[in-house]
Amino acid sequence: MIEILNAEQLDRARETGALVGSILQTLRGRAVVGVNLLDLDRWTREMIERAGAESCYVDYAPSFGRGPFGHYVCTAVNDAVLHGMPYDYVLADGDLLTLDLAVTLHGVAADAAISFVVGSNPAADDLAMIAATERALAAGIAAARPDARIGDLSHAIGSVLAAAGYPINLEFGGHGIGSTMHQDPHVANDGRAGRGYRLRPGLLLALEPWVMADTDVLVTDADGWTLRSATGCRTAHTEHTIAITDDGAEILTLAR
Ligand code: MF3
Ligand code: CO
Repeated sequence: MIEILNAEQLDRARETGALVGSILQTLRGRAVVGVNLLDLDRWTREMIERAGAESCYVDYAPSFGRGPFGHYVCTAVNDAVLHGMPYDYVLADGDLLTLDLAVTLHGVAADAAISFVVGSNPAADDLAMIAATERALAAGIAAARPDARIGDLSHAIGSVLAAAGYPINLEFGGHGIGSTMHQDPHVANDGRAGRGYRLRPGLLLALEPWVMADTDVLVTDADGWTLRSATGCRTAHTEHTIAITDDGAEILTLAR
């Protein structure tokens, strides 16, 4: 299903997006050496509830996970990249952490992710990999406007990731979003320009470039959810929800 939002729904999407962006920034500030992933999950739950919002994750039970996720934020450390299930782990200096959050507020969902290095000694390779996903996201957003096609966004994202030297896995990518978190159209992280669904004002998309440093092969953790690099290499993931506007795209998941 593809949803096109009206003006009132778009206003609500802006509220949800700002909430997701601000929770992620708060979590980023709190994700210091010595903090447990389960603390981050608990704080996320508290912030979602205080805002009167609902988690898109806690009851989520798609085919690619085992049972309901049961948590409020995805926490992916180092070789973990997608769907990182929080567990009893204390953050250490130099950990590469991805936080991925989706909530629904007043019937509209928003989804975003950030990657960053915990502590004060980030590895240059980690920062470069994170920056590549951020540039790829920016390129995808820059390509998003009415009458552009999904393939234009995929091509823009994939070109940046490939130029930076990262293998690209196409099993998971971006997606339409609206009254629910995962909708059509799918937005692959590489593809051919000029192909696919034609964008129109009122469409919401979650764009989410992610990479693994030296492989395109994922393995599933024993928890049944967390996806890790098959080689144990480090990984990065950056995501925003955007709205297609009359003349371009608006990023919804920035902290206000
Ligand atoms: N928010 C993720 C995405 O970017 C999906 C996470 S599903 C979960 O599409 F259940 F693992 F949380
Ligand atoms: Co997403």
